[in-house]
Amino acid sequence: MISRIIPVYEPVLSPSARSNVLKCIDSNWISSRGAFIDGFESAFSEYIGVAHSASVCNGTVALHLALLAAGIQSGDEVIVPTFTYIASVNAIAYIGAKPVFVDSLESTWQMDPSDVERKITSKTKAIMVVHLYGQPVEMGEIMSIATRYGLKLIEDAAEAFGSRIGSKYVGSFGDVATFSFFGNKTITTGEGGMVVTNNPNIDARIRKLKGQGLAGTREYWHDEIGYNYRMTNICAAIGLAQLEDADELLRRKREIALIYHKSLVGLPLKFFWEQQGSTSSFWMNCIVVDKPAVRDLLRIHLANVGIETRPTFYPAHTMPMYKSMARGEYPVAVSLAERGINLPSSPALSDEDVNYISENIRSYFK
Ligand SMILES: Cc1ncc(COP(=O)(O)O)c(C=O)c1O
Repeated sequence: MISRIIPVYEPVLSPSARSNVLKCIDSNWISSRGAFIDGFESAFSEYIGVAHSASVCNGTVALHLALLAAGIQSGDEVIVPTFTYIASVNAIAYIGAKPVFVDSLESTWQMDPSDVERKITSKTKAIMVVHLYGQPVEMGEIMSIATRYGLKLIEDAAEAFGSRIGSKYVGSFGDVATFSFFGNKTITTGEGGMVVTNNPNIDARIRKLKGQGLAGTREYWHDEIGYNYRMTNICAAIGLAQLEDADELLRRKREIALIYHKSLVGLPLKFFWEQQGSTSSFWMNCIVVDKPAVRDLLRIHLANVGIETRPTFYPAHTMPMYKSMARGEYPVAVSLAERGINLPSSPALSDEDVNYISENIRSYFK
């Protein structure tokens, strides 16, 4: 009998998250206005090092707004890795724009810059980079391609809060960037997201679109079709408390990654480590094994001893709605998707938990 299941993720909420939420309830400020919204947005800008942050109700709508505010329209092409969570791609499709998939690099799991350049056409308007599983995309080459071809650069940093290249946080490189605060993210608001930019015009577009396209000249006068994508004060109250704990959460996540890294040495698998010059948040600790069959059997072996794992994402171009949009082959993405495993990665894990997981991975290969 398994006495306990170790989940892939669980949030760590401090007493101040609780007291902030109670302040919302006690004051009746429970909807999408209130002091926590402004406080969370400005503290987030300061943390990431950007001029503007607009809170929204999840990371998917954050991407939808980022694309709209970047001027992407129906029929435009947006370059995106096929090896990503489906929301990156769906947001492009919401606009009627066309996702153009690129393959990934085996070394970093991130989008392959040479494939990006190969896939550019006269219709290409933007590149969406995805900092997958918390690992920063090497931005230098992608930024120079975007500049050379006059393309907008959108960062999907949903999984990479706290990841850095040098001393600069991801989310501060592109024209506009997005974050998710779903319950399994490095900082959470339950459901929530943020759109960040240094461009005041993009920020103004985002704020207008997330609030039903209000013209601002007359009450209840709307001069374009907008959305209700606002975050609640309750979510922002949790977010602000999480942001206060962010450095400690990231420190613990790095400690956990280091234990995995050391204790899995010598096994026939690769632990997904950060690239030189970049600092991963280690949102998800990932391993890749030699063969798909090994991946599936190892996951069963771990499930049998109470360890929950996740398979890596299926490449988007293999899903029914995007199958016809594949341009050529994506051998690296397909292979990584078949062989990758996400290991438990919550900062709530104890050292004993991480050692237990590592020992059970080791026992599989005995
Ligand atoms: C890469 C990526 N993009 C976008 C999203 C969407 O965020 P949300 O679930 O908050 O809508 C996620 C969510 O997990 C994600 O992993």
